[in-house]
Amino acid sequence: MAVYRNTFSESITSDSLTVSSDVDPALVEEVRTGLQKTPKSLSSRFFYDAEGSRIFAEIMHSPDYYLTRSEYEILDTQKAALLRQFTPDNRPFELVELGAGDGLKTKILLGFFTSQKVDFTYAPVDISADALEGLVIDVRRQWPDLQLNPRHDDYFSALELLSGESNSRNENPRKVVLFLGSNIGNFTSDEAIIFYQQLYSRLQPGDLVLTGFDLQKHPAVIHAAYNDRQGLTRAFNMNLLRRINRELDANFDLSAFDHYETYNPENGEARSYLVSQKAQVVAINALDMTVPFQYGEIIHTEISRKFTRNQIEQLAQQTGFSMTGWFTDCKSYFADVVFER
Ligand code: AVJ
Repeated sequence: MAVYRNTFSESITSDSLTVSSDVDPALVEEVRTGLQKTPKSLSSRFFYDAEGSRIFAEIMHSPDYYLTRSEYEILDTQKAALLRQFTPDNRPFELVELGAGDGLKTKILLGFFTSQKVDFTYAPVDISADALEGLVIDVRRQWPDLQLNPRHDDYFSALELLSGESNSRNENPRKVVLFLGSNIGNFTSDEAIIFYQQLYSRLQPGDLVLTGFDLQKHPAVIHAAYNDRQGLTRAFNMNLLRRINRELDANFDLSAFDHYETYNPENGEARSYLVSQKAQVVAINALDMTVPFQYGEIIHTEISRKFTRNQIEQLAQQTGFSMTGWFTDCKSYFADVVFER
């Protein structure tokens, strides 16, 4: 167990200075820098500890969060057309999934592909070890013969998975990268461009990327998805403070923070904030740091971007891809879009 000690270690019980060894160094960096910025921010990529992943699974089943249902409908009703795009020639392919989570939607494809005796491998990647572990156990049980190559990593590091040693198409099966669930929405537009440029440089001609984009629609529908009646989005945000309390020995008083959500239909951005309900000072003991909050001061936590078809076409064009497939649900709330390298 790694122990972080500040200079006052003698005056504080050693218990309060103990940080579990699996504390993510990226979380340390994010808390140190993010809480010193104006405005304060903490990235939503840190939402996904065991409890956060559990809350997100609940969000995916909640009535206000339409995204999962819409994408589920797309994959379920159009899995055969997707398969024809993935392998028009019935050749083997490698399915690489970035941000696989619990794989709820991907299992539709895995089930269909295996029932069709398709020759493919599956490499799920996720930053949540807990979610990934659950997925691997599940997939092994349901499809014991499927070749599974899981990887616990963030998206950008995982992209290295894609550049195989051999650069010859004959030795490398076609890669199909899945980036589902509107995970792309957490990127700023600059980050999204860099992300697809990196994908482009690591993939081979003919490789595919299937991305789930949440589409712009009535702003009230979007706002409700992130301001849900069950308070799940609130709990999802609050859990980040609980995580920091636990992993960095901080003393955020959860009852003194609120959750606030905005959706701006002019730029398609839903944004989540934690709001300090009073003037207060929070101690982050493992970082030997105190953070003052004014009444009403915010911590920005998440951006969830919504797209138009034009923006998606532009994104493909700007990064060198061709858009070769467009699949939507019956309400046109969501689109799973194929980009070909
Ligand atoms: C998993 C990033 C797609 O932004 O819609 C759900 C996360 N945040 N409710 C999203 C989330 C609040 C979700 N993504």
